[in-house]
Amino acid sequence: MIARSSILGTGSYLPEKRITNADLERMVDTSDEWIMTRTGIRERRMAAPGQTTSDLAVEASRRALASAGIGAKDLDMIIVATLTPDALLPATACLVQHKLGARFVGSFDVVAACSGFVYSLSIADLFIRSGAARHVLVVGADVLSRVVDYTDRGTCVLFGDGSGAVIMGPGNGRAEVLYTKLHADGSGAQKLYIPAGGSALPASRETVDGRMHFIKLAGREIFRFAVTATAEAIREAMADLMLSPADIGAVIPHQANIRIIDSVAERLPIARDRYFLNLDRYGNTSAASIPIALDEAAGCGFLNPGKHVILAAFGEGLTWGSAVLRW
Ligand code: ACO
Repeated sequence: MIARSSILGTGSYLPEKRITNADLERMVDTSDEWIMTRTGIRERRMAAPGQTTSDLAVEASRRALASAGIGAKDLDMIIVATLTPDALLPATACLVQHKLGARFVGSFDVVAACSGFVYSLSIADLFIRSGAARHVLVVGADVLSRVVDYTDRGTCVLFGDGSGAVIMGPGNGRAEVLYTKLHADGSGAQKLYIPAGGSALPASRETVDGRMHFIKLAGREIFRFAVTATAEAIREAMADLMLSPADIGAVIPHQANIRIIDSVAERLPIARDRYFLNLDRYGNTSAASIPIALDEAAGCGFLNPGKHVILAAFGEGLTWGSAVLRW
């Protein structure tokens, strides 16, 4: 058993096209003022026509491989967290394996929505510590613009497209993984979901006419869940590792809504300026949100060496969880 896994490199990719609040004002009955005060989101990115989740994942993965200083042939496993796979079959991770030119290594998707990256990091951590894999690529990638209803003002303002990736391996990389913890409560499954396209409601003329292949969201209920789950996940991680607020160099929360992060910060003893934010530029990119933020936080000097970094996620399922790194 290897003592610890660590992050060896990070990378992210955002499609070029920007959708501003002014653009959304032309599509639905909304305003920049409403979106800014209720969400903190200024703009989000949109994949080009034909650009798929695996395409975004490959871009972020190449950057993470370069940052780690290893090649695709060095990978022993590929995990892609996504709720917007290129297709229901095969797993997007298999497409990423092929496009990267990786060896025939185990490649699979994890469906835990916005918690997907933390779930996947936890799996990679265990494979590496058991000795079953040495270098694992963990990607969070989503093209939410393909499942967002641009006639529904309650959801279309929230989401964007993007991808983020890390390369994990044994030993002392850039950040040791100290802890992961995962949770789920399926009783909340229909608070945030895509009703059709699965075995419960296969695609039909009626499901398409009923716009049932788009994300449906009970906004207020998810908001309350998000605040409680995120705060509890951070509190639990700090208690389990016996960390004091002074130990925490940074919190990288799922980037969904500035009011969720403000409410979490009010409930916890960690200084507000330790919460990394980029949701104003990208909106909620689901599984990509935390790895994009991690890559940006690492790149801009937000993460102090020797300090603890808490990744805190929530998403549909309902799912939530945390990971603690020592940078
Ligand atoms: N522009 C203008 N008005 C709007 C808009 C909009 N884009 N969207 C909703 N409204 C209206 C509503 O119709 C409602 O009007 P009414 O009072 O006349 O009925 C009013 O604004 C208030 O609506 P609420 O839903 O109560 O607004 P709230 O303050 O709760 O904000 C929001 C809505 C932003 C969706 C919030 O609830 C939220 O962020 N929830 C969490 C969403 C989330 O994070 N989801 C993703 C989590 S998991 C994952 O990442 C995939």
